[in-house]
Amino acid sequence: MAQEAEKQAPRGGPRNGILEVNPKPQKGLKSTLIDWLEKLIVKLMHDPSQPLPFLTGNFAPIPHETPPTTDLPVKGHLPECLNGEFVRVGPNPKFAPVAGYHWFDGDGMVHGMRIKDGKAAYVSRYVNTSRFKQEDFFEGPKFMKIGDLKGLFGLLMVHLQILRAKTKVIDTTYGVGTGNTALVYHHGKLLALNEGDKPYVLKVLEDGDLQTIGLLDYDKRLSHSFTAHPKVDPVTGEMFTFGYSHEAPYITYRVISKDGFMHDPVPITISEPIMMHDFAITENYAIFLDLPLHFRPKEMVKEKKMIFSFDPTKKARFGVLPRYAKDDLLIRWFELPNCFIFHNANAWEEGDDVVLITCRIEDPDLDNKKLGSFKNEPYEMRFNMKTGEASEKQLSASAVDFPRVNESYTGRKQRYVYGTILDKKAKVTGIAKFDLHAEPEPGKARIEVGGNVKGVFDLGAGRYGSEAVFVPREPGTTSDEDDGYLIFFLHDENTGKSFVNVIDAKTMSADPVAVVELPHRVPYGFHAFFVTEEQLQEQAKL
Ligand SMILES: [Fe+2]
Repeated sequence: MAQEAEKQAPRGGPRNGILEVNPKPQKGLKSTLIDWLEKLIVKLMHDPSQPLPFLTGNFAPIPHETPPTTDLPVKGHLPECLNGEFVRVGPNPKFAPVAGYHWFDGDGMVHGMRIKDGKAAYVSRYVNTSRFKQEDFFEGPKFMKIGDLKGLFGLLMVHLQILRAKTKVIDTTYGVGTGNTALVYHHGKLLALNEGDKPYVLKVLEDGDLQTIGLLDYDKRLSHSFTAHPKVDPVTGEMFTFGYSHEAPYITYRVISKDGFMHDPVPITISEPIMMHDFAITENYAIFLDLPLHFRPKEMVKEKKMIFSFDPTKKARFGVLPRYAKDDLLIRWFELPNCFIFHNANAWEEGDDVVLITCRIEDPDLDNKKLGSFKNEPYEMRFNMKTGEASEKQLSASAVDFPRVNESYTGRKQRYVYGTILDKKAKVTGIAKFDLHAEPEPGKARIEVGGNVKGVFDLGAGRYGSEAVFVPREPGTTSDEDDGYLIFFLHDENTGKSFVNVIDAKTMSADPVAVVELPHRVPYGFHAFFVTEEQLQEQAKL
């Protein structure tokens, strides 16, 4: 009987809340006419001499997927706790753009390294989004790009997308996202995320291969976009998330139970639409970031700016809300000096303070030319729930981002943060380990060992990495917080070869624990995740 019931209603409800993605784009006269119109607009208004830095060098896409390639050369050894699959997603546009291209625009491609008993296999697969499937059908680009959203040209490109959708040339039923930003595991599913869309469910096969199963809409309960940075509480198993929109409510907060049930939406009231890339949780609160990177389509047209423009005159606002609140009546807002934040490391409660460890950015500009050129420093921010006061403290020199922690401590007080050291072109030159129990050394112009910098793994001249994920030697919090490994992709521009590196997080020794040579180069990308062997077996039931 139980088995019969299981068959009829699989865990999490019908299809586990996963929607099969079957867009219905249409070729024909309307499609051809809009293509001609687009060509005309591009010819008249786009300057083809504009450089596209994120399509050159090792930012350039690779022209194919790679099926699982086994028995890769391993220098050193791959510890047992790394049994599972290391995955990293990033933009890999299948088709050349008609005009501009921003780093955020490319189709999501996941690069995976399956590790089993000391052996390694590499695989890469596109996230088969609705957008990807449709452009594949047309054999060319058909969707709007952030890289085009500048000036009057940007406005016309927005209208071309609207026209294509209205005439049913493209099908926007399943969203228009790329799945290119981040990966997370929750309720037996590995999710590929992009903040303008819903999550895509990926399945990791035993040999490491990756399949896109469909779009996760939580049995139709999710109708807005979903951040690329949800937080999974390691103790309760819940996932906390939000979406942002250019229409009110500009922020919508959601709690998803351990069993995958998405609770009712909680609208968060802010004065105008913004880009909010990340947020944070503690044991009792959710922290929202109302930072002045505004959605300003009028300024885009009038002042030839990007559609999201930063206002350096406004304060940074941080909203602290009891995390199971049903509305935002109890939210407490705190103000700090003007800044932007892409990524938080962690947050927790300490007495009356809510503490946020973050990477604070001064005067960001999302323009391709400026990306990576801003000041980007680790900070501790404190919000006192009793007095209403906020304070901040710089933790190191610039530029550090993609902060990661031992995720057994998400929302709880912890000690070590691992961040990437970035150069002016947003390339990762090293991995730094920060000790939050130690004081920063004042007056440092660069990141080097001393004070709260407990280790720097320098990648060497011409060698660039990507976000490093901490994998504990033992799951849970019984062993030392930094007892484990950091795993990341690495590309050597001197030789054109790419690798996966494993280093010892405790010692930050310059000698890697393992270096795995990959069959071809892996482009620079965004966020990574480690799927444990246990998770891999659990999600195999999908
Ligand atoms: Fe991110």
